[in-house]
Amino acid sequence: MSFKKIAVAGGGVLGSQIAFQSAYCGLDVTIWLRMESSIGRSRPKIDRLRQIYLDTLEALKTDPAAYAYGLIAREDISPEALDACKERVEQAYASLRLTTNWDEAFSDADLVIEAVAETPDAKTAFYKELARHIPERTVIVTNSSTLLPSSFAETTGRPDKFLALHFANEIWRNPTGEVMGHAGTDPTHFEEIVEFASQIRMVPIRVLKEQPGYILNSLLVPLIAAALRLWATGVGTPEDIDKDWTISTGAPYGPFRLLDIIGLVTPLNIISRSPQAKDESSVEHKIVQMLQAKMDRGETGVNAGKGFYDYGGGEPAAK
Ligand SMILES: NC(=O)c1ccc[n+]([C@@H]2O[C@H](COP(=O)([O-])OP(=O)(O)OC[C@H]3O[C@@H](n4cnc5c(N)ncnc54)[C@H](O)[C@@H]3O)[C@@H](O)[C@H]2O)c1
Repeated sequence: MSFKKIAVAGGGVLGSQIAFQSAYCGLDVTIWLRMESSIGRSRPKIDRLRQIYLDTLEALKTDPAAYAYGLIAREDISPEALDACKERVEQAYASLRLTTNWDEAFSDADLVIEAVAETPDAKTAFYKELARHIPERTVIVTNSSTLLPSSFAETTGRPDKFLALHFANEIWRNPTGEVMGHAGTDPTHFEEIVEFASQIRMVPIRVLKEQPGYILNSLLVPLIAAALRLWATGVGTPEDIDKDWTISTGAPYGPFRLLDIIGLVTPLNIISRSPQAKDESSVEHKIVQMLQAKMDRGETGVNAGKGFYDYGGGEPAAK
């Protein structure tokens, strides 16, 4: 089945992006929000996305570095094609519907993409109520970053039609769609979601078994953890650790540049909550102290202008 009517649940950071990208690719999209006040918070996000898409398409007329896979194929770029894409942005913007009404959003949906808050209670309550409003044919995907589809499969009332489609933030230029089922997902629906991901200009990645962190975070989290240990135990400086990684592998960024992009707050919160960090003699405790010292100096990453590197201008230098 090819999906035409899409309902996106949640209009936060990711929900708004998924909805906008799907509408840009010509699909009929409704965003469902829990409360009227959520609509007020979602609108500016959609306004901003419209502007980003338009600006990126305009920039591409003169600057190849502005390229974003989600907007156009590189080989199709021409001034006329970019103008046609800008027209599609306006159509997407005009066509997006936002509602708090369950039936309006879901009663005719081919596909529901759940992007509500990352808490098990919020998602469980949502799936329970959703089951009362969707037709038999509807497939449901979750965009959850940390919660496994098997935890909610039964609650949806249709475990065979439930799986994960995990996007990366800024989906128009970081266009991966990690597709991951649970043991009871019907392979036909898995393949439909792979196809859907391509249809909205994501690069589908098949995650063949249920895996916390999917593929990307299964790779990225251990890399960053190892880098922090090397730094905290005095084996290498952030700059040398990054140089070793980038020069040896050809990767554009090392783990400390990535930490600056992610922002230091989330990693610090995660490590602080680990049981090992409570032990004052542990490396984790040391990492928390060292990250906290950077936070106290306001060096929280790219957004603050300084993290492990200084982003004051030119090529960043490690600090
Ligand atoms: N932010 C990211 O970089 C990112 C990346 C990939 C996946 N995700 C996943 O996407 C999902 C949404 O994340 P986000 O960053 O967009 O969050 P967000 O906080 O920006 O948005 C959450 C949305 O859920 C709504 N909401 C909050 N509580 C709710 C409830 N009890 N019932 C129904 N709706 C509720 C909010 O109104 C909002 O529209 C999460 O599962 C997250 O793991 C986030």
